[in-house]
This record gives sequence, structure tokens and C-alpha cells, in this order.
Amino acid sequence: MSDPNSIAPAEGKLGILTPGMGAVSTTFVAGVLAARKGYATPFGSLTQMAHIRLGKRTEGRNPMIKELVPLAGLDDLEFGGWDPYSDDAYTSAMKAGVLDPRHVEGIGDELRQIKPMRAVFSHEWVKNLDNVDHVKDETSYMTLAENLMEDIDRFRSEKQLDRLAMVWCGSTEAYRDLSDSHRDLDAFETGLKANDPAISPSQIYAYAALQMGVPFANGAPNLTVDVPALVQLAKERGVPIAGKDFKTGQTLMKTMVAPGLKARMLGINGWFSTNILGNRDGEVLDDPESFKSKEVSKLGVLDQILEPSVYPDLYGDIYHKVRINYYPPRGDDKEGWDNIDIFGWLGYKMQIKIDFLCKDSILAAPIVLDLALFMDLAARAGKSGIQEWLSFYFKSPQHAEGLYPENDLFIQLTKLKNNLRDMVGEEAITHLGTEYYEDE
Ligand SMILES: NC(=O)c1ccc[n+]([C@@H]2O[C@H](COP(=O)([O-])OP(=O)(O)OC[C@H]3O[C@@H](n4cnc5c(N)ncnc54)[C@H](O)[C@@H]3O)[C@@H](O)[C@H]2O)c1
Repeated sequence: MSDPNSIAPAEGKLGILTPGMGAVSTTFVAGVLAARKGYATPFGSLTQMAHIRLGKRTEGRNPMIKELVPLAGLDDLEFGGWDPYSDDAYTSAMKAGVLDPRHVEGIGDELRQIKPMRAVFSHEWVKNLDNVDHVKDETSYMTLAENLMEDIDRFRSEKQLDRLAMVWCGSTEAYRDLSDSHRDLDAFETGLKANDPAISPSQIYAYAALQMGVPFANGAPNLTVDVPALVQLAKERGVPIAGKDFKTGQTLMKTMVAPGLKARMLGINGWFSTNILGNRDGEVLDDPESFKSKEVSKLGVLDQILEPSVYPDLYGDIYHKVRINYYPPRGDDKEGWDNIDIFGWLGYKMQIKIDFLCKDSILAAPIVLDLALFMDLAARAGKSGIQEWLSFYFKSPQHAEGLYPENDLFIQLTKLKNNLRDMVGEEAITHLGTEYYEDE
């Protein structure tokens, strides 16, 4: 159990930097600004709304998470970011079309003041973005990384920040496997100096952040910090990292429903998932290389939750298919359908249909907030490297080598809450329950 006094207080201001200032990022910022002014309640955010039980059920201790651990307050946040388009946060939010203009009226001026810094961007990694007009000119990857570090420094001093956290809200990059440059930090830095094409823009941001001691969380499925070189850098610099791919929409549903079916030993023959969405994210994912990153991230969850090798009769023959279709009329209002073919007693077949009419960025925005606040907490608690306790927020949780990721949403929640309890010297809750039935 940790010493509760070992967490540094959340004094002063926290800057939240997002590479990518599109739908998710601007919805997140708008929501925080609106909550600050009392126009909105931060629904969907554990750091703002959730309670956490402590001790026995009979003790009645159930504080809010933000009362238990020292988190940055919403009034102490500042926002910044980078984007290959020069639109300020207000213009970008209006183009993304997630928020009703009436809802952003009262915070329009503040949003307009948030202007992106020039991005590190490459069409090799994100194909379907045209006419980008706001990209750094340097061509050396190492110089680009240094340039990002200067951006971070300038932002820190201009806004008089005490701490920073970075959350990747940029487009999904093309799928690539690990390369030699990712093997260790020396190889990575040699690769940066040699402009190795295997190093992605998101990895240049991550390298810059970690070198500056800034925690980094990755909201997209691209590898980014999930490579040995950057895990090593995070450990060496004592900085927390987490990823990958915000768990929203269909995968959120999947990681709620699959553990339930498995808990009751119901078999599954097939799980067909399809989506329509029409935002810029959907447009980027229309490119097969970016979709491949997403597909890998989305497909992995069922395999781990269902354990087909342990339960071959129940899940050995499951046919799992995921489709994403770019369909502009829907904008950010994604529709995700799941058809699940299940079987039960005597092998009788049944079906479950889920039709989730969700708003992608509305589900993702509170995740950005929680990740930034929890990553900042982790840093103040002296944690570094992979923060597996934040798996709750990811489709494809980053984990130590040799481990399998934990995808079951309810195990993830237990892990998150037990980590918070542990940080402040409270007992983990095992749910054993025997203590209530022991004789005096
Ligand atoms: N529910 C969700 O919306 C959800 C869920 C899981 C993951 N994600 C991921 O989060 C990311 C953001 O989603 P979104 O809906 O805001 O997409 P978006 O297209 O609206 O915004 C992404 C922004 O990133 C910018 N960008 C691209 N490359 C960049 C670079 N190298 N540096 C800086 N900026 C760059 C783009 O110009 C764009 O403005 C995507 O990768 C998406 O797959 C979103």
C-alpha cells in the first residue's frame, strides 16, 4: 500500500496539450469551459462525477474520486494543441459539427483564443487529409522533435503552468509493425537523426513530450508509445504513458456485453459489427491503411475476454467481423450495429441485436479529461512507464510485455478504483464479503 503523503499536491495550473484539434479535442475543451461556467454538467467523467467506496459496506464511506485523490480542478486547466489545419478551436468545433452553435455561444471567445501550433504531419501516415496549411517546415525528424519541445516550453511559460499532460487526439495513422528503430532508445534516436520512415509523427510528439517530462496518453490505435524505445524513455525520465485508442461506442458495448455472456457460459458463433459515421475521423478511416490500425484495435478485445483456447466449445469457432463505413450525412452521429449469434442449453441458438445511435465525440471527450487528470495524478504520485490501471479508457490497453491486456470493462473499473485506493493508503476491495458473516 502506498504512503498517502507521497502524492504531491495538485497546486497551480495544469496545461493539457492535444496533438489534433478536431472533433474530440474541441468537444472536450468546450465541455470543460461550459462546465466551469456552470452551463453544463460533466457527464461521462469519473474524475468529476464518480464516487468510490472505501472499507466495508457497513462503514458508509463513499467519497467522490476527486475528494479521495488530489486532482487538478477544472478552473486550473489551460488548453493548447497542434493541428495541420490552422482553424482555431471555435472554427474547428463548428466544422466538426458535434456541438450545437447555441451551446458554444457563451464560450465562443475562449474557444477562438485557442489556436493550434503548426503540426508535425506526413501524408505517408494519414492519407485522407487534403490541403493541410499549417505544418512545420523542418524536414529533420530530430529538429522537428526539438521544435515541439520549444512549443511545449513556450506554452508552459506563456500560460504560467506548473504541470502538463499530453493526449493524442490526432487522426489515426497508418498501420505499421514495429521496426528496428523502435527496439530501444538509442536506435530510436539514431532513427530520428536519420529520418527513418518507420517513425511516425505521433512518435515524434511522444518523444518530445517524454523528454520534457510530460505524461503522454494515446487516444488513437496507432502504436505511438507502445514500442520498447518509448517505454524505455518513459521509465528513464520517470514519466507515465498510456494507450491505445479511446474506448467509446461499439467497443465500449462489446466489453460490457461479452463479459456478461461469458460469465453465464453462453456460447457465441458470430459477432458482426458494422458502423456508419461521417466525421473527419470516418474520412481518415476510409483509407485502408488507417482502418487497419483501427481494425486490429477493435478485433483484439473479444479474443482476450472470451479466451477461445480455454473455452473451445463456447468460443472456438467465433466469427468476428468489424466494418467501418464512411457515410457523410451522419457527421459525428455514428450508428453502430452489432449482431451477436449466441447459443445456450442444448446448443439452442439465439440472437442479440444492438443498435447504438451514439455521438462519438460526446463519448470520447470525458475520456480525454479523465486521462489528462489521472496521468497528472500518476506523475505526482511518482508513477512512471505504462499505466495499466487506466486500461478502462482504452480499446487496446497498453500492457507490459508477456502479459495479456485486460479488456473486461468491469475488471478494468475494479483495477482503476483499487489503484486509486492504494495510492492513498486505503485497502483494495476484494468483494470477498466473508467478513460480514464471521461470528463475533
Ligand atoms: N469516439 C471517438 O471519437 C474516438 C474513439 C476512439 C478513438 N478516436 C480517435 O481519436 C482521434 C481523434 O478523433 P476525432 O474524431 O477528433 O478526429 P478528427 O478528424 O475530427 O480530428 C483529428 C485531428 O487531428 C489532426 N491531425 C492529423 N494528423 C495530425 C498530426 N500529425 N499532428 C497534429 N494534428 C493532426 C487532423 O487535422 C484533425 O483536425 C482519431 O485518431 C480517432 O480515431 C476517437
